Amino acid sequence: MTQPLHAGREGYLPLHVAIIMDGNGRWAAARGLPRVEGHRRGVEALRKTVRAASDLGIRVLTIFSFSSENWSRPQSEIRDLLSLLRRFIRNDLANLHKSNVRLRVIGERENLAPDIRGLLEEAESLTRHNDGLTLVVAFNYGARQEIARAARRLAIEVAEGRLTADEITPERLGRYLDEPGLPDPDVIIRTSGEQRLSNFLLWQAAYSELVFVPVNWPDFDRPALENAIAEYRRRERRFGGLIAQIGS
Ligand code: FPP
Repeated sequence: MTQPLHAGREGYLPLHVAIIMDGNGRWAAARGLPRVEGHRRGVEALRKTVRAASDLGIRVLTIFSFSSENWSRPQSEIRDLLSLLRRFIRNDLANLHKSNVRLRVIGERENLAPDIRGLLEEAESLTRHNDGLTLVVAFNYGARQEIARAARRLAIEVAEGRLTADEITPERLGRYLDEPGLPDPDVIIRTSGEQRLSNFLLWQAAYSELVFVPVNWPDFDRPALENAIAEYRRRERRFGGLIAQIGS
């Protein structure tokens, strides 16, 4: 499933980059601004990053936009984040489509407000035949929840006699994850200096390189993405074996 070598315009590029966009609140606090201002600037950083990733020839960009755990934030901040998502899709969908971006959404959809579900479905359906960058928005997403959903579906197959317990392998479980057709992320970038995965893509991150960037998300831009990719290219990936997969 993992294809580590991808010759992009600038040499070997990660095929799939995933980003934990962290530090919006700290960015705002450092400037005496309300947290929502940090999130707004975060959307701008996201636009720049999508453009840069697309120009560089990266095939898949996954962004952590709202976690299953974010519901524990104050109601007013949840409202702000949801309305930024609504606005992002309403304002940017046409442009993303024109830029040949295919949009996919991972996470739990069942309990979302119907208008948000509708927007997410519209975004996926409009862009489904595009073959440029695949932008995966992790929304209401938690990796443990995703793995539990996959396990539940396998359990149903076993209960209905279509599968035996012995037939459950990592490959088969992987096929029940939210976006089974995509390659695993080659690199996961987290901004703001925090060094943890916070329930993001735990299954898919088995062999991902982790790059921690000391800038807050609103300050992330094309040079920051290029630096993170340069750091990834300096790493030697072995996938549990002996042969280095990336040369310098
Ligand atoms: C982390 O900053 C960021 C988030 C919880 C959400 C990221 C959301 C956006 C960039 C905007 C909305 C997304 C879309 C797709 C429209 P934080 O609030 O945890 O920052 P802190 O750790 O400094 O408080």
